[in-house]
Formats: sequence, structure tokens, C-alpha cells
Amino acid sequence: MSLPKNFYWGGSASSFQAEGAWDEGGKGLSIYDVRPTDPRFSDWKVGIDFYHRYKEDIGWLKKMGCNFYRFSIAWARVIPNGDDEPNEEGLQFYDNVINELIANGITPMICMYHFDTPNHLEKEYNGFASRYVVDCFERYARLIMTRYGDRVKHWMTFNEQNLHSMGLIYSNAERVPEGVDPTKFLYQVNHNVFLAHCKAVKVLREVAPDAQICGMIAATPSYPETCCPDDVNFALRCNDYLNYFHASVFANGKYPEYMVRYLTKHGWMPDFEEGDDEILSNTVDYLAFSYYQSQTVKAQDFDQQLPPAAVAGMGGIKNPYVQYNEWGWAKDAVGLRTLMHEMYYRFGKPIFILENGVGCREELPEDGSLVQDDERIEYHKNHIIQMKKAIEEDGVNCLGYITWGPIDILSSHCEMAKRYGFVFVNRTEKDLRDLRRVPKKSFYWVQKVFGSNGEELDG
Ligand code: BG6
Repeated sequence: MSLPKNFYWGGSASSFQAEGAWDEGGKGLSIYDVRPTDPRFSDWKVGIDFYHRYKEDIGWLKKMGCNFYRFSIAWARVIPNGDDEPNEEGLQFYDNVINELIANGITPMICMYHFDTPNHLEKEYNGFASRYVVDCFERYARLIMTRYGDRVKHWMTFNEQNLHSMGLIYSNAERVPEGVDPTKFLYQVNHNVFLAHCKAVKVLREVAPDAQICGMIAATPSYPETCCPDDVNFALRCNDYLNYFHASVFANGKYPEYMVRYLTKHGWMPDFEEGDDEILSNTVDYLAFSYYQSQTVKAQDFDQQLPPAAVAGMGGIKNPYVQYNEWGWAKDAVGLRTLMHEMYYRFGKPIFILENGVGCREELPEDGSLVQDDERIEYHKNHIIQMKKAIEEDGVNCLGYITWGPIDILSSHCEMAKRYGFVFVNRTEKDLRDLRRVPKKSFYWVQKVFGSNGEELDG
């Protein structure tokens, strides 16, 4: 058996980690442009300068053998304050990116929001805490779906949407008002983001009915530390609260009963307004996720006044059966197979792996030889082997395997030293050097893998 002929292989990146040009072309500020970064790391101003080098980078993607690329639109580039008039220059930039991808035989996917709320909407309205911002998102959806829907047939709304219910770590656009229970607030913001997602789904059905749209989560499967029934039950509930709650709303159009009971019991059920149930009923075409690692947990008490992510974190322990990268992320390829099986058979929708990869510290050798990124090759190889088992042996319907940051970009914490790419970008945290693109050893490996539709996996 082999993978379907139309299987997607490719890469993905976000606007704020790649584009740079933070104040060019009429772009407004996003929350990332004003947020201080760790002084040891970079800032977001230049990224890898994709804004000016997109043609070259798309050329690298093509040489790599990608037939799919997922990029995000910076909301503040196309609507500078998030709620004002569209910025034609910003819209034109994404027209150019889309046209260049298509001209190179690469199917584009738009991610509408990758943590980068326009700063104005954060400052004035407290981000998605406000239903006004939900309406702004709908307007933004209409603008870009109408503009690009003729050429872009794959859409996703929020990157890793389940992070909105995990302590505002990434979204960071919302401040807990004084006197409000932070967890209740968290679930209200999370609810509003569900509404924004569903409204965007509805808009796409109207303006580009032949296009497809997904919901996307950061999927981190939880394993029990032992076969003690309490550990097993705790891991199951971690999976429900952290991963499958969101997938369930995307696929079934309503909150799963376990979540309603859990949130109600703790007084965290968000306020539903009239019409919310109807909005939530706009379901997706497929379910997408990022997968980097699994986590291992031991039983804790979910009845504490803490969001589930915090409780799960308290039970988090090292798994002796897997290896970890320098940043402590578990490298667990079999976890991908388990997750794919679970995601597909729980909801019966096609699935799509939209991020996978491993962060490694690398230097460009001075003698001109290749960066020897064998750790990366091994990581992807193992994950592709397990993905193929999920598809070929377990019967999972999976649209494709999309890697994260195929050309090095800044990490989510703005750390350039944590690289994911098959192509090295010549800059450090503080020194932009020449931003030259240089293929690594893995580049030639991935070329063979993508070119053979996953058949040639040996280096
Ligand atoms: C995902 C995000 O969580 O993981 C990306 O969608 C992020 O924005 C990626 O870059 C890898 O994480 P990190 O922290 O290593 O960059």
C-alpha cells in the first residue's frame, strides 16, 4: 500500500515569526510588535524577512518538493487597527504570495490568526474578551475570503485554538479584569473565539462554497504514568479537556457533555447569548493539529480551582521510554499514530497534520559543508513511518504531512537558536548577518521523501 497520489507534503510558518517588515507597507501594530521579548533573544522586527524575500523562499519550497504551504495573514497588515479601513498594500502582498505559490505548483492554505491580535483591539477592547472583536474578526474573514477565495481552497481560522483555554499563554491579548475569576474569564474568551471561528466558517460557505475549512489544535496526547486506574482516568480527562473539547466543537457544532458538566460544576460555564448555539453549529470539513510531543501525567485532582492545563502540568513527569530535545520536548513518533487514530475515529472527519518538527541548535560550518542535522532527519523519518502506519494499517483518512518552519524562522519565544528548518537562515538573535538561505543535509533528504510520496525514507 502507498499514500494517495494527491497527498499533501509541505511546510507552514506564521507571519510574525517569518515576515519581518513590522512597520512597512501600511501595516498596523500587532500585540507582538509591542510586547517585550526575553533580552537574550531577538525581537520580531525582521524575522527572516519573508516579506521581501518571499519569491526566493517559495523557490526553496518548490526545490524541496513541497506541494502545499500554509502561511498566516497578519490581520494588522490588511486591517491596520483590526477595525478600520483595509490596507490595499497589505492585501496586495498576500495576493503576490498566493500567486507565486500557485505559479510554483504549491497549493496555498491561509491561517487567519496566529496569536497576533491587532494591538488596537487589545488595548481598546481587551481582545476576544469583547464580542465587538468577534465581529471584527468576522469582517476580516469576509474581506480576505472574498479577496482570495477564488484561488485559496484551504482555510484555517485560529492556530492552535485550544491554547485559548490554557492560560492565555499565546493569545496574550486579554487581561483578566479585576474581581473576575480568571478561569471563568478564560473560558469566556475561549467561547468568544469559538464564535469567531464559527462565524468565519459560515462566511466561507457563502463567499467560496467550493473551499474547505478546518479547526486546528495543538495536540499533545497525555499518557498515564502507570496502569493505576486513577492515572489512566486522569490521562483520559487531560485528553478530553485539553485536546478533544475543541475538536469536538469544531466537528459536532456544540460543547461535549463532559465539558458542560465540568464547567458548570466549577462555575466556569461561559455566558451564552441568544443565537450562540446556532453559530456554533457551523462545523468544519476536516480537523487539523500540530503535533510535536506527548506528555506523561500522574493522577491529580481536577476539582481544584485551576484550569485543566495547570492541573495537567502539575501531574507532568518525564517519560523514560522516549528521548527529549534540548528544550525538553519529548520525541515520540508513535504518539503521532495514536493521536491520528484517536482524532479520526472519535469524530469521523478527515484529519490534517499541519505542524510537525523538532527544534535543534545549529551553526553554519565555516568550511562550506552542510549543516549535519541528523537529529531532524531521524525525527521526521520516525514520524512519517508512524503516520504511514496510521493511514495504511489503521485506515485513517489524513490529507497531508505539513512540517513546521521548513526554512528556519524565529521560535514562538523569539529565539532564533531554536531552528526547525531544512534550509538554514544565516542570522543569530542579535546579528542579522546576511539572512542567506543555505540548504542543510535534511534538505536533500526531504526532497527525496516528498518527491517519492513518502516511499524513500532512507538518507
Ligand atoms: C506551535 C506554534 O505551537 O509550535 C508555532 O504554532 C511555534 O508558532 C511552534 O513556533 C514551535 O514552537 P517553538 O516554541 O519551538 O517555536
